[in-house]
Amino acid sequence: MSFLIGQNMTGGYGKGPDILHDCTIEVDKGEIAVIVGPNGAGKSTAMKAVFGMLNVHSGTVFLDGEDITHLTPQARVQKGMGFVPQTHNIFTSMSVEENLEMGAFIRKDDISETMEQVYELFPILKEKRNQHAGELSGGQRQQVAVGRALMTKPKLLMLDEPTAGVSPIVMDELFDRIIEVSRTGLPILMVEQNAKQALEIADKGYVLVQGANAYSGSGKELLADPEVRKSFLGG
Ligand SMILES: Nc1ncnc2c1ncn2[C@@H]1O[C@H](COP(=O)(O)OP(=O)(O)OP(=O)(O)O)[C@@H](O)[C@H]1O
Ligand SMILES: [Mg+2]
Repeated sequence: MSFLIGQNMTGGYGKGPDILHDCTIEVDKGEIAVIVGPNGAGKSTAMKAVFGMLNVHSGTVFLDGEDITHLTPQARVQKGMGFVPQTHNIFTSMSVEENLEMGAFIRKDDISETMEQVYELFPILKEKRNQHAGELSGGQRQQVAVGRALMTKPKLLMLDEPTAGVSPIVMDELFDRIIEVSRTGLPILMVEQNAKQALEIADKGYVLVQGANAYSGSGKELLADPEVRKSFLGG
C-alpha cells in the first residue's frame, strides 16, 4: 500500500456539482508523483480533496495505512501532511524568518535545526531572512512557501504549482531542490503546468481531465505515450 492514497475520490465544493469523479492519486515513500492536465481539470481540487478541504462524498484517503478521510486539514497537518497551496501560500507582510516560524506553529519542540536545514536547502532565504516575503522575487517566494511547509517536519509534501510564474532557469533550480528533498525519503505530490519537465522527474504521473484520471503511469511512460504527447505535451 502506498504511503498516500486518495482512492476513488468523488466530490465538489459545498453543495455544488461534483468536480472530481472517481479520481485516484497515490504516492509512495521516496517518490515524486506529478499531476498534470489542462486548466480547470481539477488538479488543485484533487490536492484539496487529499488535504480535507473538499466535500468528498465517496472515496477514501489513506495516509501511512490509516484512513484519514474524515479528518480536518488541521488534523492532517498533525498527521504529517505539508501542503503548499497554489495561491496565497506566504504571508507577504511578514519577514522570511517569521514565515518559517509560522510554518512551525504546531510544533512544541526546538525548531532551530529545521530552520537551518531550510536555509541550507535555500541559501538565499537565509540572506533575506529579515526582509518582508512580499519583497522577494517569484522564485524566492516559492522557496519561502516550500520552506514553510518543511518547517512542520512533514511526512509527505504536497505542492500545487511550485514553479508557477517563474523563468525556466528558476524552474530548473526549484525542480533540483524538490528532487533533493525527495532524496531524503519524503514523498512528494506535485501539480505542475510545466508538464514535460515535471514528468521527467516523476516516478508516477497522472493526467487529469474533467476531474477524472485520463492517463497514469510512470513519468517515462507518459512522456512516451503518443496520445498524451499530442493532447497534453504539445506533440
Ligand atoms: N472554491 C471553489 N468553489 C467552486 N468551484 C471551484 C472552486 N475552486 C475551483 N472550482 C472549480 O473546479 C474546477 C476545477 O478547478 P481547479 O482549480 O481544481 O482546476 P486546476 O486543474 O487546478 O486548474 P489550473 O490549472 O487553472 O490551476 C473548475 O471548474 C473550477 O471553476
Ligand atoms: Mg490549480
